[in-house]
Amino acid sequence: MALLERRSGQQDNPRILGAFNERTPDWLSFFMFTYFTDRDGKMQLAALAQSGFDPLSRSCRFMLTEEAHHLFVGETGIGRTIEATCLAMKAAGITDPNDKEAIRKLGVIDLPTLQKKANFHMSVTRDLFGSEISSNAASAFSAGLKGRFNETALTDDHQLESASYAVLRVIDGQFVTEEVPALRAINSRLLDDYITDCQGGIDRWNKVIEKSGIAFQFKQPHKAFNRKIGEFAEVNVSPAGELISDEAWAVSQGEWLCNDEDHAFINSLMKPCMEPGQYASWIAPPRVGINNQPKDFEYVRIEHS
Ligand SMILES: [Fe+2]
Repeated sequence: MALLERRSGQQDNPRILGAFNERTPDWLSFFMFTYFTDRDGKMQLAALAQSGFDPLSRSCRFMLTEEAHHLFVGETGIGRTIEATCLAMKAAGITDPNDKEAIRKLGVIDLPTLQKKANFHMSVTRDLFGSEISSNAASAFSAGLKGRFNETALTDDHQLESASYAVLRVIDGQFVTEEVPALRAINSRLLDDYITDCQGGIDRWNKVIEKSGIAFQFKQPHKAFNRKIGEFAEVNVSPAGELISDEAWAVSQGEWLCNDEDHAFINSLMKPCMEPGQYASWIAPPRVGINNQPKDFEYVRIEHS
């Protein structure tokens, strides 16, 4: 932690730990955090698992197994939330995913609000990768301190002295894809690998929705959406990838990120369920219990005094 704090104070990345400083006010935020933000942990650990410094590499490999469990918690938690929404919509005969009022009355979270929540967690987590173009990352790679994601599976010379990498930037108010020396684009590449890695769970969630016959798909927002660090920190970009004015951002951001009303609604659903086998309205029971325990297994014993 001391190392993290020191690094977070670096001049070129003063707010690099932003996503870790966000509040986690409800269980949905917790599941979003474990799916999207723990995945940053996975990517950073995977890069350090390639370290030439063997003790670091070995401890990161070990920690990656724990990270996999966190990601599982997030994927299944969000999946169960989506499942509860789809089941409730079906039972009530609602097919329009945007019929927010009617869907919320069922005690479940409408899919567009879940998308907004995911937009937030994806964008703040992307900031954790630091500046896309970074001389620090270049030095760490060249010194053999860290590698790229899946370094051993890559077929180039692993030194990258003459290689380049395409980095999306904003120049004179326009998106431009620029070939940058690959060593300086290590962070940018890890961010791209992260975005690809996020997609697996999203595709599985979309299958659940499709099977329910509801016309809705979760999408990752554009890479530049809601960024505070790096190439896109100074611009406003919609989830679809349009560069927009400050005024347009102010008008529309409540459609792309949860507004006060959305937060209040999500918060209103967070009611404790004390009986074994009982689940809150907004989340479906797990398919199997932890260690194959039955669904009404008494995981926690609450003593009433
Ligand atoms: Fe984790």
